[in-house]
Amino acid sequence: MVIGVVGSGAMGSGIAQVAATAGHNVILVDNNAQSLSTAERKLRETLQKLQEKQKIASAEAVLSRFTFSENLADCAPCGLVIEAIVENLDVKKKVFAELELHVGDRCIMATNTSSLSVTSIAAACKLPRRVLGLHFFNPAPLMALVEVVPAIQTDDALVPDMKQLMATWGKTPVVAKDTPGFIVNRLARPYYGEAIRIYEEGIADMATIDWAMTEIGGFRMGPFALMDFIGHDVNYVVTETVFQSFFFDPRYRPSLSQKRLLEARWLGVKSGRGFYNYASGSLKPVPIKNQEQGKQIVDRILAMLINEAVDALYLNVAVVADLETAMTKGVNYPKGLLAWCDEWGADSCLQKLDFLYKIYGDDRYRASRMLRQYAFDNKKFI
Ligand SMILES: NC(=O)c1ccc[n+]([C@@H]2O[C@H](COP(=O)([O-])OP(=O)(O)OC[C@H]3O[C@@H](n4cnc5c(N)ncnc54)[C@H](O)[C@@H]3O)[C@@H](O)[C@H]2O)c1
Repeated sequence: MVIGVVGSGAMGSGIAQVAATAGHNVILVDNNAQSLSTAERKLRETLQKLQEKQKIASAEAVLSRFTFSENLADCAPCGLVIEAIVENLDVKKKVFAELELHVGDRCIMATNTSSLSVTSIAAACKLPRRVLGLHFFNPAPLMALVEVVPAIQTDDALVPDMKQLMATWGKTPVVAKDTPGFIVNRLARPYYGEAIRIYEEGIADMATIDWAMTEIGGFRMGPFALMDFIGHDVNYVVTETVFQSFFFDPRYRPSLSQKRLLEARWLGVKSGRGFYNYASGSLKPVPIKNQEQGKQIVDRILAMLINEAVDALYLNVAVVADLETAMTKGVNYPKGLLAWCDEWGADSCLQKLDFLYKIYGDDRYRASRMLRQYAFDNKKFI
């Protein structure tokens, strides 16, 4: 099957590399010639390095499967086209409608959107049943997880087919309902949001929260270091989009501290300054390593994360196994959040949330109906 990839930026070129390495002929399309030639040069360099490390047999063989094009019409022979252009609903809808004029009726059309409704993108097409989300993670060649997201119009048969195809590409597919943030970008919101709340309230400073989450919680990166790494232009915008898409549910409310960083263009590591200062010679803040306080910080953030996972299960966003795989493979959490709940006890988690709800009186801390039930029945998720 010939694979089309539209958009040759960070994600599109990564996805194209994965498909070509799996043996497909790939047509990589971009309306910006500069972006296309940068993608070609970077792909050549990456594939050369992979050949030197003996991860692939021949860079030339993989490169020979590529066609670079500025014209969507060149997608005509494709059996699957994956769109990875700018995250803008109107632009994506336009591209899908135009793409449909060029491809055959049996061509599957996928979007790599992180936060837009797949259903609304599908609605731009004459045959919406062939549209679905295939959400890869950055960098696509290295991250195993792919969220397969059927729109409400999508033909049911496409889901197992796409899961199978992703597995042949060496990926780990999970299925997510077309709801804001799918699995990973929804379940991970409290990791950032609750950490910022704790910081804004002056309970602990950033370095202390990061220390607690890594040293006591076992996460690879603390929330502030991670947000700086992702970039506030990406991380804040995902939070804001999820918040708006959930009809302003306070659980997803963005923070002013992060918005100000974005306004100042203090985007994180890439701009030299975010929550932390990355300028050479600047002093790193020192955490206050108080075990008891550290545990309280971890428990509060973890209770919010678990509640989000349980609520996603309750609302049929995904099955237990996929919720767990998404968080361990998509964002490298040390454990799945439902397994963590089992270990901690649904009752202890519920008590923490009910306490927060009582002292803050904020709907943000309302416990999921399912968590309450599991605590009452003393049930486990796994
Ligand atoms: N970057 C991430 O971490 C990440 C992770 C998962 C999903 N995504 C999603 O993937 C998509 C692409 O993100 P990215 O980070 O690769 O963006 P990017 O800015 O690096 O690349 C986008 C590319 O699309 C091209 N483009 C824009 N409009 C086009 C059009 N009408 N026709 C053809 N090409 C067009 C641009 O020239 C650019 O080369 C977005 O929907 C984003 O939400 C991004």
